[in-house]
Amino acid sequence: MAQPLAASLASTAAIAEAASEKSLLRFITCGSVDDGKSTLIGRLLYDTKLIFDDQLAALEKDSRKYGTTGPAIDLALLVDGLEAEREQGITIDVAYRYFATAKRTFIVADTPGHEQYTRNMATGASTAGLAVILVDARKGVLTQTKRHSFICSLLGIKNIVVAINKIDLVDYSHVVFAEIEEAYRDFAEQLDFDSITPIPMSALTGANVTTPSEDLPWYSGPTLLEHLEEVDVDTDLRLKPFRFPVQWVNRPNLNFRGFSGTLASGEVRPGDPVVVSSSGKSSRVASIVTMDGELDVAEAGDSVTITLEDEVDIARGDVLAPPTARPEVANQFSAKLIWMEEERLFPGRSYLLKLATRTVPATVTGLKHKIDVNTLDELAAKTLALNEIAEVNIETGAAIAFDPYSDNRETGAFILIDRETNATAAAGMVLHGLRRATNIHRHATSVDRAARARIKRQKAAVLWFTGLSGSGKSTIADLVEQKLAVRGQHTMLLDGDNIRHGLNKDLGFTDADRVENIRRVGEVAKLFVDAGTLVICCFISPFEAERALVRELVGEGEFVEVFVDTPLETCIARDPKGLYRRALAGEIPNFTGVSSPYERPDNAELVLATADADPDALAERVVAEMISRGLIEA
Ligand code: ADX
Repeated sequence: MAQPLAASLASTAAIAEAASEKSLLRFITCGSVDDGKSTLIGRLLYDTKLIFDDQLAALEKDSRKYGTTGPAIDLALLVDGLEAEREQGITIDVAYRYFATAKRTFIVADTPGHEQYTRNMATGASTAGLAVILVDARKGVLTQTKRHSFICSLLGIKNIVVAINKIDLVDYSHVVFAEIEEAYRDFAEQLDFDSITPIPMSALTGANVTTPSEDLPWYSGPTLLEHLEEVDVDTDLRLKPFRFPVQWVNRPNLNFRGFSGTLASGEVRPGDPVVVSSSGKSSRVASIVTMDGELDVAEAGDSVTITLEDEVDIARGDVLAPPTARPEVANQFSAKLIWMEEERLFPGRSYLLKLATRTVPATVTGLKHKIDVNTLDELAAKTLALNEIAEVNIETGAAIAFDPYSDNRETGAFILIDRETNATAAAGMVLHGLRRATNIHRHATSVDRAARARIKRQKAAVLWFTGLSGSGKSTIADLVEQKLAVRGQHTMLLDGDNIRHGLNKDLGFTDADRVENIRRVGEVAKLFVDAGTLVICCFISPFEAERALVRELVGEGEFVEVFVDTPLETCIARDPKGLYRRALAGEIPNFTGVSSPYERPDNAELVLATADADPDALAERVVAEMISRGLIEA
């Protein structure tokens, strides 16, 4: 499985720790098996003599079994990972390799080059300071070369090595090399790299990987390894402003109150002034505590507990920062997103957003455009599919602290989490905060929801009827409303067919439009709840995520989900509007139950099985449920 961004950071932390004495370069290799990527990494590992003896023994054995290089050791097998993948002849997922020279230690992220693995590449690239982009000298700059380069630039990699591999197969030709260099530079102009270094090489023969080659007399530049040892990638998080996202508030007894976490960037010393990003409250660092005693200074990557001189309100997810270099704090920002889930992104749907130590509900409020990773064209889009990349606007349920990703990759990167499956749905990079919401504040009214409802001798709530078309939602809801009217209750009925003639007449029945339909209806229902009304809603509302969204919107105890559970066959047999007949004949696309899904509710307050039941009796059950919940008087 692909590792989420956060996990990839953790898995390499231990290695980074061990390597902290020398300077560390993290880089990523991009290319496909055919480009010789695995052979190149194998060559680097082999030549830097860091292959353990037992690995070597296994390698010789495997080379005889699977190798494609005859009796010589197949270096690609060093890095191709699992047996099953080897037999398939492809590399999947991200593998991190570690090697060192006298000058530097290296962590290389090896990610597969196939288009469907954009998310893996993004995972590998998110911590890298440099990318080695492999080009087969015989083929030149390909579509995939451009895709890899674009994703690297998206993930903030500024330094590129164009490894022009298999130069031996074009007779070590200077002309071929120069042509590829020119083609690459032409294309890469739009990608904002700091350095592009083309190097001719043959991973197979070893030419110019770690040792210069006599066959390349026209080349006077460094070998790949020399370049990797010398290149200055400026990803040092210690040099960025201090950021301390609080992981937890550590309060073992009344005398000690510390804030534990890992420095995302910068340095901090006792006495330094700090502010809490969200509240703007300020104090000074009193001490920096670790398991091994107190520190005079802590720097990016250190896990510490910080105590402050003053009692300041701080919770998990707050960020401590210098008063003179604060992060942005906002509930709306623009971002680039890489979608990582089979299930599509829908603007308006609620996800969890995790940025540093903060997790908040969030929705994509606008999909500005998606980006074709092969041509870099900007395309209009309503949703995103697996591996697609887009520029979006995001709104979070509460204001959060962040930096633009281009300033700080630790506090500018986030993930979106699917609320149903808990899977990582997207990786995101913050572009900038949006100010448009900052001058709009909620106004507290003197007569509130409870007061309005009291006058009506009821508690306001939403009765949410969900079920297939023709299941009987509207029939039962109509009866319920009649019974409530007789009792003198104040109600409002919102029905799919009616709302779609007015407020939602611009929406159809694609998944994206249904998400938006229910989002708007949820907001309207909430306004009616604020008015103290009993709101009866009848919508197919086929997706659990949107039903959950409305439930959250109106609040605990104010959402009564009524699942009108009628088997599809019964709905088809009833077919009150003749729609099933037409849908089954292929005349209506995206028809629920026929060509569009319905997700049955798992936690409805009331399930009404309609087969053989009298609608009036079912309506009575709904009224009884409302009485038992204290919404209306008996
Ligand atoms: S929802 O899926 O977005 O919640 P909604 O309840 O508003 O749907 O509207 C459903 C009504 O629209 C159905 O009762 C039916 O009369 C009509 N309709 C027209 N086309 C479709 C379709 N493709 N799928 C479902 N209902 C449709």
